Amino acid sequence: MRLEVITDPKAMAEACSVARMSGLTIGFVPTMGYLHEGHLSLLRAARADCDTVVLSIFVNPIQFGPHEDYNRYPRDAERDLNLAKAVGVNLVFMPTVEDMYPQGYSTFVEVQGLTEKFEGAFRPGHFRGVATVVLKLFNIVQPHRAYFGQKDYQQLLVVRRMVQDLNLPIEIVPMPTVRESDGLAMSSRNTYLSAEERRAALAIPRALNACREALERGERIASEVRRAGLAVIESEPMLSLDYLAVAHPETLEEPDVVGSSAVVLIAARCGSTRLIDNILWEEAGGT
Ligand code: PAJ
Repeated sequence: MRLEVITDPKAMAEACSVARMSGLTIGFVPTMGYLHEGHLSLLRAARADCDTVVLSIFVNPIQFGPHEDYNRYPRDAERDLNLAKAVGVNLVFMPTVEDMYPQGYSTFVEVQGLTEKFEGAFRPGHFRGVATVVLKLFNIVQPHRAYFGQKDYQQLLVVRRMVQDLNLPIEIVPMPTVRESDGLAMSSRNTYLSAEERRAALAIPRALNACREALERGERIASEVRRAGLAVIESEPMLSLDYLAVAHPETLEEPDVVGSSAVVLIAARCGSTRLIDNILWEEAGGT
């Protein structure tokens, strides 16, 4: 299978248009590269569902805050292209920052409401950067389906909201979080962790599991569910918590009493690395 790598946005739009005009369905996976099994699971799903699989690799500067890790974000194009080829990607879009944001660039997308808490509160401007780049990529690729990981749960909701609000004819396909065998959610940022931090980071999935166990034994008081997770995080001195929340899976509102489903969201810093994770819980036998 041939893999075509394109950097110019116009050339990319043209290649996607040729595929679309020939009646092929386009499946799209936007990423910031440094691919791991989480990204590959999205690409494999696109490969199984669609005729043409498009991958974008772009470390989007406008979704990083001024003191965040834009400059040290891991990059390895050669390795990424080999992995893309192995999973059957057809087209890879790798624009430069100047291609995406040329001199005079002035247009940004703001999704209100959903972006105001959790990641949005701790990373001002983050979702504005995400929504802007994702809309630009959607306009260039014009995919039939786009695949997003539940690992970035709030991002998935924000993209869904944008697609609905702006009448984009794109199906957003959510994909489950892929984890290391010890439970840590895969992330390009895991490469920042020292061996000791890597071990401490395991308190994050353990805290989520503690919340899940509380829900499964019938606890419905949100503050009690939260307390079960907090106890695990607090037992790990190397972790510093940004938030641990029990929220409604669609609205992200935080109820006092949990209904038939919930998402438990965590963000914590481990040394200089910021990690996020979440679990979705649904009452057994629920609809
Ligand atoms: P990135 O962090 O590279 O993630 C790209 C896609 O892979 C996202 O949809 C993300 O949720 C998914 N993903 C990451 N880790 C995963 C895991 N362990 N299991 C399943 N899916 C996982 O998210 C971004 O890039 C950017 O914000 C982007 C949407 C590309 C816009 O710049």
